[in-house]
Amino acid sequence: MKQVHLAAHFPGVNNTTVWADPRSRSQIDFQSFVDLARTAERGKFDFFFLAEGLRLRELKGRIHDLDVVGRPESLTVLAALAAVTERLGLAATVNATFNEPYELARRLATLDHLSAGRAAWNVVTTSDAFTGENFRRGGYLDRSERYTRAEEFVRLSRELWDSWRPDAVLADQESGRFLRPGSVSAVSHRGRHFTVEGRFNVPRSPQGHPVIIQAGDSDEGREFAAANADVIFSRHGTLEEGRAFYADVKRRLAAYGREPHQLKIMPAATFALGDTDAEAAERAAEIRRQQVGPQTAIAFLEQIWGRDMSAYDPEGPLPDVEPAVEQGVSQGRVQVADRVAVAARWRAVAEEKELSIRELVIHMTGRQSFVGSPATVAAQIEEFVRTDAADGFILVPHLTPGGLDDFVAEVVPLLQERGVFRTDYEGATLRDHLGLGDAA
Ligand SMILES: Cc1cc2nc3c(=O)[nH]c(=O)nc-3n(C[C@H](O)[C@H](O)[C@H](O)COP(=O)(O)O)c2cc1C
Repeated sequence: MKQVHLAAHFPGVNNTTVWADPRSRSQIDFQSFVDLARTAERGKFDFFFLAEGLRLRELKGRIHDLDVVGRPESLTVLAALAAVTERLGLAATVNATFNEPYELARRLATLDHLSAGRAAWNVVTTSDAFTGENFRRGGYLDRSERYTRAEEFVRLSRELWDSWRPDAVLADQESGRFLRPGSVSAVSHRGRHFTVEGRFNVPRSPQGHPVIIQAGDSDEGREFAAANADVIFSRHGTLEEGRAFYADVKRRLAAYGREPHQLKIMPAATFALGDTDAEAAERAAEIRRQQVGPQTAIAFLEQIWGRDMSAYDPEGPLPDVEPAVEQGVSQGRVQVADRVAVAARWRAVAEEKELSIRELVIHMTGRQSFVGSPATVAAQIEEFVRTDAADGFILVPHLTPGGLDDFVAEVVPLLQERGVFRTDYEGATLRDHLGLGDAA
């Protein structure tokens, strides 16, 4: 039977985490990372996932409230987590635009060694000049160049990882440690974006290649994933969109000589549980109201409208103002492509359903993917995976760090009873958990 894969996203920035909940704890204390990771490992999850942001976003020239919790550096956090977990995969989001392959390949290979084969790299790109201002050399890259750089980056990293034979180092009690002759190849790369001349300095890691994850959605992004990725973190979380996306990217694999099972599709997913479906629905609505407080509602509106909307009552109706047509008031997030059209769509929904500003934002900006009793949610997850809308999910809980506790206690056992989720880890490495086979 087709198996479900599960990962745990550590929440923080954005309005996912309900900080007003008394159970919410620090987003930066190591213990928060430990608690969420250990819960995921208790639930036999495939991996723990950290997102990345390389500049605090701004709204109206000030730090955006949704970023005030900051952004710690992923690989450092994961290296520490490697010491307190045993089987859980450890996935870091790291930008391909602002790093150098030789250095990042070393850090990923090192994490793979420290964790005994559990490292993963979520390769993201950005064309965001606002973020680029933090990086002198990486700087701003034209949209068309982002994936040519990412592609060269991954290809070169693999060359570096492959340059050591697994049995390169010989340990001899009398003469010490030495290299088997010819077991470390020199790498000579002169490409459009990078030049590397020399030998890699980290022995081949347990997985050979850390698992590669990809999260872009453009045509170039999908093609890059088909050629290079082991996992896609997607935003196509409904049955219909999920199936269309799944079919599209799996179809692209053949051109690269790859099989469908070599690329796992894992949409982001949220959930709300209750003893009954009705109770869960009530809980889901309550979480959404907590996630979109009055101030957050106005901030969302300002991003769409591109102008200051602080004079309006979030519990009142949408005011009759037009969106700004030029550069908006938010920096560091994907700009709304056609503000006038998006605002018109929001207005139509508000009028039709007679929604206040806050209700409109709640309605328009995401909703819980899985809502119901544990039995309902387990059945929904199985249906997604069985009908090829996904291979599994990256779960985004709404509490830091206890947001997965109920899921692991109540939903995971039901998935196991259905025979669609492991009752224990079968292999040692993340590649094993994902059923990817050895690195090519
Ligand atoms: C579900 C999802 C999660 C993402 N997470 C991050 C992230 O944590 N950090 C980041 O810099 N970009 C993130 N991205 C952005 C993408 O990697 C990519 O840079 C962006 O979508 C633009 O690429 P595209 O034009 O191919 O969509 C995410 C994208 C998706 C779909």
